[in-house]
This record gives sequence, C-alpha cells and structure tokens, in this order.
Amino acid sequence: MSVLPVTEHAWLIAENGLIHSFGEMADLPETHADETIDATGRMVLPAWVDSHTHLVFAAPRDGEFTDRIKGLSYEEIARRGGGILNSAGRLNAMDENELYDQSLARLNAVMATGTGAIEIKSGYGLCLEGELKMLRVIRRLRENAPIPVMASFLAAHAYPLEYRQNKVGYINLIINEMLPRVAGEGLADFMDAFCEEGFFGVPETERLLEAAAKYGLRPKIHANQLHYSGGVQVGVKHNALSVDHLECVGEAEIESLRGSDTMPVLLPGAAFFLGMHYQPARKIIDAGLPVCLATDYNPGSCPSGNIPLMLTIACTQLRMTPEEAINAVTINGAAALGLQRELGTIKAGKKANLILTKPIPSLAYIPYDYGNNNIARLIVG
Ligand code: NIG
Ligand code: FE
Repeated sequence: MSVLPVTEHAWLIAENGLIHSFGEMADLPETHADETIDATGRMVLPAWVDSHTHLVFAAPRDGEFTDRIKGLSYEEIARRGGGILNSAGRLNAMDENELYDQSLARLNAVMATGTGAIEIKSGYGLCLEGELKMLRVIRRLRENAPIPVMASFLAAHAYPLEYRQNKVGYINLIINEMLPRVAGEGLADFMDAFCEEGFFGVPETERLLEAAAKYGLRPKIHANQLHYSGGVQVGVKHNALSVDHLECVGEAEIESLRGSDTMPVLLPGAAFFLGMHYQPARKIIDAGLPVCLATDYNPGSCPSGNIPLMLTIACTQLRMTPEEAINAVTINGAAALGLQRELGTIKAGKKANLILTKPIPSLAYIPYDYGNNNIARLIVG
C-alpha cells in the first residue's frame, strides 16, 4: 500500500493504445512519435479506476439533502419511501435516450478529473424494464465512451413499495425473471446487493449470490455501511471480487478478509456526505490488508464522482498517506474490477490510460490542493 515508485525526468512511449516503454531521459531511445507531449514540471500517473459508482440516475435528490440537515436520517428517508425509491420513480419515468445523454455528460465530467476506467451499477429500476433500461444505458456508454466501463446488476438495492410485505416475492422476481434476461443479454459483469439491516439480509444476499454464480456473475456487494450486517463475511464466503463501503469493520470482518481474494473498497465520499463516522482504513491496512477507494457517485449518499476529492478525504479523515490513497484508486481500483493486468500502473503492455497533471511539486500536492483541479489532461490509449 505505501510504496509508490516515482521516476524523475522521465519519458514514456505509448503505441497502439498501450504503454510501450518508459524510463529516464538519459536513456531515451531514438524515437519518431506522431505526437509529443512536453511534461516538464508535470507528473504522469496511471489514470484513476473508479470501481464503484451509480452514475446512471435520472435526477438529483437535493430536497432530501436539506431534510437530512434538518434532522431526518438517511434510513428514515428511505423508510418513508424516499431515497433509492425516490430515484427509482424518477428513473422509471425517464426516456432511455435522455437518461443516456445525462449519464454521458456525467461520464465526461469525471474523465476530466482523471477517471480512466469506471464501474456503473443498475439499481434504480427495481423492476424488469427499469433494470434493463439502466443496463442498456450502461452498455451504450461502454460502446461509445473511450474508457473501459464495467456493469454491475443491483436490482437488490431496495424493495419496491409493492413488495414491502412480500420480500420473498421480490427476491424471486430478481432470480427467476431479471437475472436470466440480464445474463442472457450479457448486460452485466458483476452481481451486487445492498446487504444491510432494513434492506437485504444475509440469507437473502446468499440466495442472490448463489443464483448469480450460476450465470458466472461474480459478486461485488454493498456491505457494512450502516451496521455490522454480516455483509463482509457473506461476500468473502461467496468469493466476492470486492466488499464495498465498510464503515462498520471490526476484528471479525478483518479476520474474514485475511487470506481471501476479496478487495475491501472504502467509499469515504458517502461517509462524508451522510455525516457518518469514517471507514477504519488504518486498522485494515495495518492488519496487512489492501484497501481500494472509490467514489460511490450517486444522487443520495455521494453526488460527486471526483476522485481527487476522495483522495483528500482519505488523507485527512482516514489518515491514509498520499501514496496509499493513490495506490487505492489506481492498482487497487483495477483489482476491484479484475482489471489489474490491464490497468492501474505504468507498466509496458498495460493500457496507456494516463493522467497528465498541471505543474505540481509532488504527488502529495494532489490531495493537499483540495477543491482545485490539478489534472491537465486524461490521455486514453
Ligand atoms: O452506495 N447504500 C446503498 N446505495 C448507495 C446509495 C444509493 C442512494 O442513496 O441512491 C450507496 O451509498
Ligand atoms: Fe454504492
């Protein structure tokens, strides 16, 4: 986590979309490039990999933001039919093309802050047609955006009102009707569920993950955001690629992650925006585990997809060093998507998705200079 090598006075050659080679200026080979970029005084980094977002949504929830300031909690708002259900109502009422245009604008905005690969979840449809609409929008983004886009199927995000007295009915709907369509059309890479008290419990999450495994969808789940929900353990048991949120992590959770192939993903933007206690990053790292950081970009708990802002929160509130935080949004972000062989470090043969910074004195300056954009350019390929 803490080692982040830097080469001073360096060159880098990209060819056919990949990093061809790099080294120190003294060793620059004879080169005939189509385009040369002078990076004097600047830094070149692997682009951020944002492994957890809900970037496809129909409308902001600034009204609930004000309600929370006045004293309502995130959970109370959800119980009253707001929150995720509010977003589902808006999304189901929106035309697919308009949803796509809005989402593409958001994707372009986060690319301008250095995001060079991203994961996006469904979960604001909560019915067959709505979930398919979201996943088709994600597929169009993947086809048209220059950066890698991965999709997670999150119908188990909240129970629709009509299923509140029939929770088994909704799980059956996801397993028997949605999953076969989603998998059949190849619309998702991963299976997600909001494993949380008042949302989907451990037994429900297990049923969903077992069903998804039959279609080859590996879990990446929402775990331990509001309570010690057992989400981490159930994720590890089902070989999840990642368990995400982790505001509530104790010894049992750390023990379960140890020796697993599951990446702990921390979403400090959500803890910041909901005014919750932060994820115990130090405890996890000091136990010898990796951590990944992601934005959670969504209209309820983190209406920002800005990775540099997450770096600042990680450094100031989670007490991660700038090196740890940058590793957490590059190589560990790639690993949380199974893309660590293609992305996340500067290495010959990897995708040349790179950040060119403005002139800055050090890596630490990126989280230090918060609120300002020090990314001059995202280079894709
Ligand atoms: O990751 N916790 C569950 N899902 C999202 C929030 C969704 C919403 O409020 O719209 C999250 O924080
Ligand atoms: Fe989330």
